[in-house]
Amino acid sequence: MSFRFSHVLHLFFILSFSFSILAHNEQDPTTKIMEDFSGYPIHEPQFSASTSFSVDTENLQLQIDELSRYSDTPAPSVTRILYSEKDVLARRFIKNIMASSGLSVREDAVGNIFGRWDGREPELTAVATGSHIDAIPYSGKYDGVVGVLGAIEAINVLRRSDFKPKRALEVIMFTSEEPTRFGISCLGSRLLAGNDALANALKGTVDGQSISFFDAARSAGYATDQDDLSSVFLKKGSYSAFIELHIEQGPLLEDEGIPIGVITAIAAPASIKVDFEGNGGHAGAVLMPYRNDAGLAAAELALAVEKHVLESGSIDTVGTIGILELHPGAINSIPSKSHLEIDTRDIDEKRRNSVIEKIHQSAITIAKNRNVTLSEFKIVNQDPPALSDASIVKAMEAASKELNLNHKLMISRAYHDSLFMARVSPMGMIFIPCYKGYSHKPEEFSTTGDIANGVKVLALTLAKLSLA
Ligand code: GLV
Ligand code: MN
Ligand code: MN
Repeated sequence: MSFRFSHVLHLFFILSFSFSILAHNEQDPTTKIMEDFSGYPIHEPQFSASTSFSVDTENLQLQIDELSRYSDTPAPSVTRILYSEKDVLARRFIKNIMASSGLSVREDAVGNIFGRWDGREPELTAVATGSHIDAIPYSGKYDGVVGVLGAIEAINVLRRSDFKPKRALEVIMFTSEEPTRFGISCLGSRLLAGNDALANALKGTVDGQSISFFDAARSAGYATDQDDLSSVFLKKGSYSAFIELHIEQGPLLEDEGIPIGVITAIAAPASIKVDFEGNGGHAGAVLMPYRNDAGLAAAELALAVEKHVLESGSIDTVGTIGILELHPGAINSIPSKSHLEIDTRDIDEKRRNSVIEKIHQSAITIAKNRNVTLSEFKIVNQDPPALSDASIVKAMEAASKELNLNHKLMISRAYHDSLFMARVSPMGMIFIPCYKGYSHKPEEFSTTGDIANGVKVLALTLAKLSLA
């Protein structure tokens, strides 16, 4: 008897803290009386996370495919740039899906979109989840998208399971995680985290076509009557938790055959803009000793970046020159101007900063030796890393276990909106495998099964945190 009693109590404990949350509809009145009398459940509730969570994978895949068609480049590539016509249409698509999942939808002045499912206790802060849908030129259809459409599907999963949230659940679609148009990564989440310097800088920010940030935002229907973006800022503690579901963008989960990555930290990113100016001139007539070639200065700096990164001695230090432009860009003209954009990251912030310092010194030396001017060396962002919250890591691990899904703890080398949400809320991230780790290219791919696993872990983690 005592064994049975402790067994039932144990069951009750598990169910009340994880899954009886998902109330079963009707209860047999006899059972009810017996339960009231004995003080513990007589029958095992019918609900169990692993059996009753059903992800509508077919519909989710259809939505992912449909969203990918809002693109400025042909399939299978996706290009969706902030506030472009395709971005505006894609935003409408997301808002419609949020609304048809019963979420109340609102947008802020820069177009962060929020879909809310109210909780039973309105005075409690909400639990949030979300990601982005903008896509860098010629990229794929899963980066960010899985964390937005997958989050809405996680809400649907919970609704189908009769779950009633205690804390509200909110899905966020962040504006411009990618830096493509205005050179600023995670623009929406940086602002949400409260950033006066960025809000001010945006007043003078233009894109490559000299369109101002505010004109672009207004053309998409945002920031219509204001240049003051402080309304976007969230107060610290606005959410009790934030969780982002994302494809890994690296090969580890697929290589190791593990369906779920539980993220413990996000590496520290930085980006730098550099301009060199020289005299230019005729490619045949100006002899080599008389040149001040801004293009070669850029080429030399690109190799210096690689050298400094490799000399850090750590595999975790990386550096990329993803943009290299020469002016006037004619085969028979010595470049009179060059422009580079450098991305460098590390899990160790100090080591990353020392690489930045070395890159700066190299730029100065190269300009001097080549008799060109270093007209700009601008550190656009130099962000610290972010740590996941221990209790959210625990909840994600527990959810994976309850769903019988293997998981591993890992770090994110890519940055995400979570890096900035961590400044205003306890944060966690869930990774799923993607084909060969491909990302930021059209070959990016995750199976519907892997996406469904991520959605289930997200749904169960949200359920747990909603009740916390
Ligand atoms: C995000 O897109 C990143 O570049 O890490
Ligand atoms: Mn990306
Ligand atoms: Mn992303």
